[in-house]
Amino acid sequence: MTDAAYPATRLRRTRAHRWSRAMHRETVLTAEDLIWPLFVTSGAGVEEPVGSLPGVSRWSVDGIAKRAKEAVDLGIPCVALFPNTPAEKRSEKGDEAFNPDNLMCRAIKAVRDACGNDIGILTDVALDPYTSHGQDGLVDAEGYVLNDETVAVLVDQAVNQAAAGADIIAPSDMMDGRVKAIRMALEMEGHPNVQIMAYSAKYASAFYGPFRDAVGSGGLLKGDKKSYQMDPANGDEALREIALDIAEGADSVMVKPGLAYLDVIWRAKQQFGVPIFAYQVSGEYALIEAGVAAGVAEREALLMEKLVAFKRAGCSGILTYHAPVAARILNG
Ligand code: PBG
Repeated sequence: MTDAAYPATRLRRTRAHRWSRAMHRETVLTAEDLIWPLFVTSGAGVEEPVGSLPGVSRWSVDGIAKRAKEAVDLGIPCVALFPNTPAEKRSEKGDEAFNPDNLMCRAIKAVRDACGNDIGILTDVALDPYTSHGQDGLVDAEGYVLNDETVAVLVDQAVNQAAAGADIIAPSDMMDGRVKAIRMALEMEGHPNVQIMAYSAKYASAFYGPFRDAVGSGGLLKGDKKSYQMDPANGDEALREIALDIAEGADSVMVKPGLAYLDVIWRAKQQFGVPIFAYQVSGEYALIEAGVAAGVAEREALLMEKLVAFKRAGCSGILTYHAPVAARILNG
């Protein structure tokens, strides 16, 4: 036997059998890696399918509580709540965001009543589900989203959610300085243990369309969100955003959308070593389902491959509308 006749290393050797592949697997995905985003709507006993997200519905508060119980049963550790505010409660300034009896707060309480502390409740902080113009903040006469004025309002929104029982406040607005302002307010208002998961690197993305349908802001949105959400061409800037949010007091950070930004996740994990979450957003969900419907994609294999890629890149977890589907697959 000469060296020349054989490969020095046969990497295929460990791949030959299932048991061996299982033994050598570097990354493990479980239901506990998943966060399930849920859309809340008014009424009781209501389920409204979201047209652009086949398989996803908006649920009234009672239904949200049932979905949360389902999450606990599936081993999913956290749900993320998004309200579809009735049109008559939307306004220029989004005041409904700090109504202690708004849809969001009622959903938080219903989940807590149903599940106690068996589940984490993550709530989105941004004004878009509450404004009549669909922007995430307060706008001036030209439609420009004002930074500091918006931060002041987001603080009230965050404290309102924490007071209702939210465990994780997730600012998705991309205003400068909002994490520090929210952290300080949570400390001062008696919520020192409420976490902040900052949407730190949130891109101005074409993947959010179905979400805007789901929360009813799509048709209202004037212009775009490019003056606050990031340019998809930028990676260094994402690291600066993440560094700032960590310094301002974020417990964990998020990169959004997901699969197109794996490099950002990887770089951030290498550089900061903090918990990072990816949001596999509505457009990503819709494209998988469209592929399945067109007969060009196989849901289970495609989904597992995409989700494990987030773990491999360094994520602690993934927000995904496929959470219950994925959990059922993972739980066997
Ligand atoms: C609100 C918000 C958005 C998403 C999460 N929070 C939409 C946006 O910024 O326009 C998108 C989520 C998704 O597409 O699944 N600021």
